Parts: sequence; structure tokens; C-alpha cells
Amino acid sequence: MKKRIYMDNAATSFPKPPRVVEAMVRFMTEVGANPGRSTHEQSMEAAHIVDSTREKLARLFNIRDPKRIVFTLNATESLNTVIYGFLNAHDHVIVTQMEHNSVLRPIRHLEKSMGIEVSVIPCDKMGFLDLDFLSKTIRPTTALVCVNHASNVCGVIQDIKSVRGIIDGIPLLLDAAQTAGELNIDVEELGVDFLAFTGHKALLGPQGVGGLYVREGLNLEPLKRGGTGSFSESQDQPDFFPDAFESGTRNNVGIAGLGAAVDFLFETGIDTIRNHCMSLLRVLIDELVSVPGIVLYGPLDPEKQAPILSVTFDRALPDGLDMSFGGCGGRAIPATFETLHPHEVGTILRDEYEISVRVGLHCAPLAHQALGTFPDGTVRFSLGFFNTVQDVEITAAAIKRIAEK
Ligand SMILES: Cc1ncc(COP(=O)(O)O)c(C=O)c1O
Repeated sequence: MKKRIYMDNAATSFPKPPRVVEAMVRFMTEVGANPGRSTHEQSMEAAHIVDSTREKLARLFNIRDPKRIVFTLNATESLNTVIYGFLNAHDHVIVTQMEHNSVLRPIRHLEKSMGIEVSVIPCDKMGFLDLDFLSKTIRPTTALVCVNHASNVCGVIQDIKSVRGIIDGIPLLLDAAQTAGELNIDVEELGVDFLAFTGHKALLGPQGVGGLYVREGLNLEPLKRGGTGSFSESQDQPDFFPDAFESGTRNNVGIAGLGAAVDFLFETGIDTIRNHCMSLLRVLIDELVSVPGIVLYGPLDPEKQAPILSVTFDRALPDGLDMSFGGCGGRAIPATFETLHPHEVGTILRDEYEISVRVGLHCAPLAHQALGTFPDGTVRFSLGFFNTVQDVEITAAAIKRIAEK
């Protein structure tokens, strides 16, 4: 059987380091118990695994107190925890055009149900946030600024230090779904107050586990309440971290896998992973940048983006428009006027080339409005640490052949 080439790492990374699977199998076969709810050895071992994963994540993100990290199901739950738990009626919230629906939908829901006020900061044609606009949008009632660290559509990485400088002391929620495990994230250096991450993308862990860091001094209402294994005599939810936010049995198997994944990241080095992904992206961009019949989106500079490349096939560039025309990463590429819909391309890549990609809007409709690819979306190639140069070369050759057609 021909090897399928997996280019959908922005949706979820694949494959996982073998030790992730081993840690999960070990948890299932040898540990198995619920942590913190008993004194027996298996329970204590489970508690040790959960605590040590929390500590490893704290080290990874330079978080002083590991207890300020709460395990969740995924980035979506982490983002919802902040949005529903932190905002009050009539607060003003700033989001960006690059946000994922995991931010936009809860925010729009609160706009309708609670009367919060929402401002969306526009992004330029490469996806960079308009920082000037941001500074003019701040109000005395601005309670939260939500920023997507790297776009899952075009990879663009935002300048978080500048955002922090502009918003001064306003709490900052960073959606690190695409960057945790891919970039060095230091919550102190970046001035992040809430860090939402997911375990199954660049952190290389399993699906069904994510996390949220909450800076000391900031408080939230939990999304759910229930048993925590602590202070069981009380019918009120504990108010301390992490118990306040971890009611019910967690995904302890997933947490075991995530702990092993973070060990893998430490051993391999985030810089090594990042350099590998950047060099693959460089090859992909270089192969495609002057191919007629396709348009590439985003900064088209591996240093400025996560290893994600969005492409459309035969999107027409109007005559006479040059680099200032949006949606081509600043490069005008000659295109024909026939269009192959992203879904068609995805099917061809699957059926004829055995290349797995994602097509459409990628749950980020406003990002496509910024890039000029709404409503059809793009074909998204997202690279991971386990991709090879050969994978990229085969993929580039397939794209060229489709574009020729
Ligand atoms: C930028 C961004 N935010 C949030 C999410 C949601 O992540 P999860 O599916 O792990 O909840 C994703 C997933 O694609 C994403 O790319």
C-alpha cells in the first residue's frame, strides 16, 4: 500500500510519538484508578501522573505555580471557561479577525444573551493584526482581549508582546491552540493572563485533553460544578485552583499521554521541532510560489507563521493588481480564471494522491474575510514534526499537477 501523506496537523497531529501511546496503555492496564479520591496505590500513582503532567506543562510555558493550570477537554473548553467565567453583562471585549469559532461563537452568544459589547480588530491581507486599530478600540469598559496566537487558516503569528504593550493592564486571553508545542511560549515574557491550549495538536498528545492557565489574582466562575475529591463535606464548589475547575473524573488516560508527549518535546527540543517545521514550510512555499493557477495565503515567511499554508486553485487575480491585492501573501501570482473548488481539490488529493488535507473555512469565517477567501475557503496544508522533505516534495508535485489541469 502506498504511504498516505498526512498534511492535516493543524486539525490534529499525526502520528504521535510512540511513548504517548505507551503511557496511555500503561495507564489503562497498570494504573487505571481515579486520582485523589482514595489512598490506595493505584490512585496515588494516578495522582502522581496528573500532578507531574501539570508540572511539565508549567515548565513548558514558564508558569510559576502549576496549580494555576486546569485540565480541560480541549482548547474550546478552555476558551469557553474564560469567556463564560470571566465576563459580566455589558463588558466590552476585543477579539481579532483571525479568531476561531471556539472564541467567536461563545462571544457572540454572550453578546446576544448578556449584552456584552464586542469589537473585532481587522487583520491585513496576510493576516497580521492592525495594532493601530487595536489601540483606538480600547474603552474604559474593555474587560478582555482575546488574541489568536497563530491562525489555523494561514499560520500568521501575531506579535503578542506588542499587543500586551498596547492593551496595558487589560486581561489577555491567548488562544495557543496552534502554537503550544510549536513555539516557545513564556507567559511571563508575553504577559499572558489566560493561556488556552489543546493537547492533540503540536503538543503531540492525544485528543480529549487540553488546558487553561489562569494568572494569579484573576478569578473565574467554573463552567461546571461537582465532585472534586476535596472538601467533600461541603455542598459548595471549592474556590481554589485547580479543583474549582476540575469537577468529575478527568481524562486521566489522556493526561498520562500528554505528560509523555511533553517529555518528548523536552527531549527533542521545541527549537528543533520548530526548525524542522519551518524548513519544510520553506520548501513548500518555494516550490509553489511561482506556480501559475494557484494563490498562496499568509505571510509566506516561515519565521512569521505556524507550518500552515492555505492555497486556492485558480482564484483569479484581477488584471493590473499587484502586491497590494490581498490574499496572496504579498506576491502577485498569475492565475487563470477557472476555479477549482477547495472541496474538489481535497477529493483529488485524497483519491489520486493519498494526501490528507483540510478544505473549506476551518471554523474561522472572519479570517477568510480578511484573506479574501470567504465563503469557499481554502485548501490547507499543515505540516508537523513527523513530515519529511519527501512528503513536501510529493505534495508540491501533486499541487502543480492539479494546477496545470
Ligand atoms: C486557533 C484554534 N483555536 C481553537 C481550536 C479548537 O481546538 P480544539 O478542537 O482542541 O478544541 C482550534 C482547532 O482547530 C484552533 O485552530
